Amino acid sequence: MDVKAYLEDSRKRVDVALDRALKDVKVSKNLFEAMSYSVNAGGKRVRPALAFAASEAMGEKAEVALPAAVALEMIHTYSLIHDDLPSMDNDDLRRGKPTNHKVYGEALAILAGDGLLTQAFYVLSDPEWKIPAERKVDITRIIADGAGSEGMVGGQVLDLEWEGKEFTEKTLEKIHIHKTGKLLRASVLAGARAAGADATTLEKLDRYAKAMGLSFQIADDVLDVTATTEQLGKDAQNDVKKKKATYPALMGVEKSKKRAATLLEEALEALRSARPKSEMLGHLARFIVERKS
Ligand code: IPE
Ligand code: IPE
Ligand code: MG
Ligand code: MG
Ligand code: MG
Repeated sequence: MDVKAYLEDSRKRVDVALDRALKDVKVSKNLFEAMSYSVNAGGKRVRPALAFAASEAMGEKAEVALPAAVALEMIHTYSLIHDDLPSMDNDDLRRGKPTNHKVYGEALAILAGDGLLTQAFYVLSDPEWKIPAERKVDITRIIADGAGSEGMVGGQVLDLEWEGKEFTEKTLEKIHIHKTGKLLRASVLAGARAAGADATTLEKLDRYAKAMGLSFQIADDVLDVTATTEQLGKDAQNDVKKKKATYPALMGVEKSKKRAATLLEEALEALRSARPKSEMLGHLARFIVERKS
């Protein structure tokens, strides 16, 4: 199956489960609407696809990783809602639509993000998820690590702290690995662990995931300066305006693309060492650096 079709399949599969999970938001209709608005605004569903592909790489069905995929997309969507807030990147457009706070106001946008983050862990603890309990505990820890202060949240703080400052490649790598790489890494490891991957296999996949995760944010930085707002569904040329620490700002577009290509080769090599039972993690890593949106 080609990667576009796989992403489409993943989207369908995870969207049904996301709808079901959002039905549990009953206390406030406004909260339900604000959470649903951003989840359903579109988005590539790369993190669910990585979790599914990692499960298949272990020889299991994609569905084995479904609650992890739902949780990952909820956390990712919350991170976008908060990332766009006036006090963070202050953006008006996301996934081709007005940002959450533009529609629902800042207070509800913050709470919609909080709701999605918390609901993600409710989904992970679903007793209907028929995998051994110790795997669920491992997955919860993997995802909390990827999303939290040692992962995405930590990276988002660095991203803001380094705005407008001179930075080195070492600093930039640290920002990107945390703000973006670690949740992508968690997607791969959670999917693989759901399918029963052992510590040795997880370590090999970890090398794949680290390289892939960094390459994802390099591609995001490059697209900010090379793609149009229409292609991206978010305002282009934003990083320059905000003086963000990005790869193109440090080394220009061509060298940034080369760096991403090198990381892709590293990712593919590490993946081979894990002897995956499906090729899709490799195809997804290539898609991530070659994508146009
Ligand atoms: C955008 O992520 C934010 C980053 C971590 C770079 P995606 O490019 O996966 O956004 P969607 O989910 O497709 O909207
Ligand atoms: C965001 O990085 C990473 C997140 C954790 C959301 P960016 O700020 O570059 O993401 P975009 O370009 O707004 O999607
Ligand atoms: Mg940001
Ligand atoms: Mg942003
Ligand atoms: Mg960006």
